[in-house]
Amino acid sequence: MTAAAAVNGSHKASKPPPLNHLASHRAVKAIGRGAVADTWLFMDKKRNRLVAVKLFQRPLAHALRDSTVREITVQAELGPGHINLINVYELILSDDYLGLVMEYAQGGSLTAHVAERWGIASPGKLVMDEDEARYFFRQFIHAVDYCHKHNTTHRDLKLDNTLLDGQKPPFLKICDFGFASHFDAKLTEHLGTPEYMSPELLKNQSKDGSPAKAYDPRSVDVWASGVMLIVSLCGAFPFDHTRAHEGFTDDQELDLWLQEVNKTWIESPFIRDNRDALSKEVTDLLNRIFVVDPQKRITVPQIMEHPWYTKDLTPSHQKVLDKLLHEQAQVDEYLAHRNLDQKNVEERNKRIIEMVDKACTKGEKSGTHVRPLQALNLVHDGCERLDLTDQAVLAENSQHSVEDHATVADRAAGLDKAKSGKLHESDSMKAMSSLTK
Ligand SMILES: Nc1ncnc2c1ncn2[C@@H]1O[C@H](COP(=O)(O)OP(=O)(O)O)[C@@H](O)[C@H]1O
Ligand SMILES: [Mg+2]
Repeated sequence: MTAAAAVNGSHKASKPPPLNHLASHRAVKAIGRGAVADTWLFMDKKRNRLVAVKLFQRPLAHALRDSTVREITVQAELGPGHINLINVYELILSDDYLGLVMEYAQGGSLTAHVAERWGIASPGKLVMDEDEARYFFRQFIHAVDYCHKHNTTHRDLKLDNTLLDGQKPPFLKICDFGFASHFDAKLTEHLGTPEYMSPELLKNQSKDGSPAKAYDPRSVDVWASGVMLIVSLCGAFPFDHTRAHEGFTDDQELDLWLQEVNKTWIESPFIRDNRDALSKEVTDLLNRIFVVDPQKRITVPQIMEHPWYTKDLTPSHQKVLDKLLHEQAQVDEYLAHRNLDQKNVEERNKRIIEMVDKACTKGEKSGTHVRPLQALNLVHDGCERLDLTDQAVLAENSQHSVEDHATVADRAAGLDKAKSGKLHESDSMKAMSSLTK
């Protein structure tokens, strides 16, 4: 099948087979609940692997159309290129749901990991020790750097969106590109999770007809990365607000903003109990991150050169990062020779828009299933499918074999199909060495 046919193939499911006849996925359990979508664990029966499926219920609100298109497009573009980003496989449209099928991170979120550490931390000590925090932070910042180098901002970096895979110690995986955007154009939107939002973003509301200001989304991601580092170390947000229920009011956001601009993070009452346990180096890094003026805030490349970031890891963490480096080098090697057909990419992006537009309408037979596991049965007849892997958009004359591609696509699922053989030193491999310093 040609790459173009693979993209278009999803049109062809016209004559529905009997229910479950072509069943390819089986729902296992819910793994995440959100305001817009729930995420479920599914078994991909054909490939015999577990996948996570983010299910957007139909009809999707029109207000969410653009962000959903961006989420899927960005993840399809960037997912295959970095080990620390959740990769995507397929988009499935049923009568009831739009399902984004992705790599499953079986180790849960960093929130749960920090909560576990918090439960056993001694009073006055850090919740997560600095060695472990640095191990995670290097992977996290490296993935953020990769996004920025591809002119993309995540804009919702936080512990909940930072997942862990199944190995010990785990690889980190950033998920949820719901607020992500390319930043070719100026970004002005006021969005994010308030506790992680920088002052220029919290304040950036168009009021009384005055337009919102453009901000540098990279500095916004840096601030959020600092919050995520403090929460990992201290188990609390530096700037916080007790809320009675979900959602922040304008006044509560104003209160957060006042804390951010009037107090330094180290004065925060929320981290009083363990701030004395922080090293001089990490304190210095956080001082450079929580700078109110975004132009004076440390940048991602500068973070990667900071003494706390480059300090040696423990041997066990180093060993796992070396393995990550090895796998990333294979991905880099694949990317260096990958030959995408831009027409196929455009066609895929067009199909994403079409499927999201359809998801904004009611499905023909929607609501016929009442029990969740049946309603979530994405595999029944008549589903539209779109292959989101590179395989669907490679040029026909691509030197890359399907087998090579599978190695890269499957790396995300944790299948170690690492080929033996000498690795070539590539530019991005050199960049990755900052991970292992
Ligand atoms: N690929 C995945 N593997 C494992 N768990 C996931 C995956 N994607 C999402 N989750 C879980 O579901 C939660 C919600 O998913 P997310 O994409 O962040 O949705 P929302 O936009 O509602 O925040 C995550 O915080 C995580 O716990
Ligand atoms: Mg999320």
